[in-house]
Amino acid sequence: MNGYQGRKVLITGGSSGIGRAAAIALARSGAHVAVAARDQGRLDETVAAMRAVAGEGQRLGAVAVDVTDRARVAQIPAEVLELLGGLDVLICNSGYALPGYVDASPLENFDRMIDVNYMGHVNVVKAFLPHFLAQGAGHISLVSSMLGFMSAFGYAAYSGSKYAIAGFAEALRHELRPHGVQVSLYYPPTTKTPGLERENESKPAAVWAFESESGWNKVYTPEQVAGSLLRSILGGRFENMIGWDSWLLFFAFRLMPGLARWMSDDELKKANVKAAQARAKVE
Ligand SMILES: NC(=O)c1ccc[n+]([C@@H]2O[C@H](COP(=O)([O-])OP(=O)(O)OC[C@H]3O[C@@H](n4cnc5c(N)ncnc54)[C@H](OP(=O)(O)O)[C@@H]3O)[C@@H](O)[C@H]2O)c1
Repeated sequence: MNGYQGRKVLITGGSSGIGRAAAIALARSGAHVAVAARDQGRLDETVAAMRAVAGEGQRLGAVAVDVTDRARVAQIPAEVLELLGGLDVLICNSGYALPGYVDASPLENFDRMIDVNYMGHVNVVKAFLPHFLAQGAGHISLVSSMLGFMSAFGYAAYSGSKYAIAGFAEALRHELRPHGVQVSLYYPPTTKTPGLERENESKPAAVWAFESESGWNKVYTPEQVAGSLLRSILGGRFENMIGWDSWLLFFAFRLMPGLARWMSDDELKKANVKAAQARAKVE
């Protein structure tokens, strides 16, 4: 991807899945890249993977941070600006999903997903805003989810945190445009990442049946989604996603929400029947 040669990029959640694939693709494209996450071992491994594909003189590194720890987040702009020699693109990508029925999910799950997925992005953006405003240029990309414009049973807590990112991004775009700073929003599809594998461990059976049987739900690789995310930043459009299948759902839920809900309700009925049959087989 030519447009990233020499550009300075920070990716939160850059040590796994979509973020890691984006970091490696950026390093391969000649960018200076910093990855941020909590686990130092995975950060180090990602920096090594970036080095393996990068050229001479590229600045590559990691900052260990929990995006919910505001005191620590406040320290990272200085570290990143020194490491990269500036910052052109901030990609807020950290996040996780813990599916479950509203009825069965403790309130702490709702708090935690808002803290990590939504406030994590807000904390990082706030920390880097003085830099972008002083620079009068740059790009902030906020990673939400397709469950940030549509939703389904089992994802109430996650979806709420991802819709919140979309609302924040919309206002931020409006606010920063006069300052020359671009903002974009990315809605990833289902992507085969370590995060998805963890999510699947706690997924209720009917949610699993709903997703795996649905003709609407296509699964992508982290590399495919990272490529689409990085192209979206160069493209200059505000809302972005991969492939016609995602766009079809986006327009269905925006333009024909009644029809989209009717189809979704029908799939839910089938998923519940399938989950009940699977349960009966086990018993
Ligand atoms: N995979 C999907 O199907 C899918 C679909 C739609 C949207 N998304 C979204 O895409 C993004 C990337 O997902 P992924 O599937 O690639 O996940 P992943 O493989 O689990 O990677 C998540 C990354 O975020 C970091 N992270 C998590 N909590 C953090 C915290 N509190 N502070 C700092 N870093 C944190 C993780 O590192 P540490 O754990 O070491 O901190 C890791 O680097 C997430 O926002 C996710 O919600 C994913």
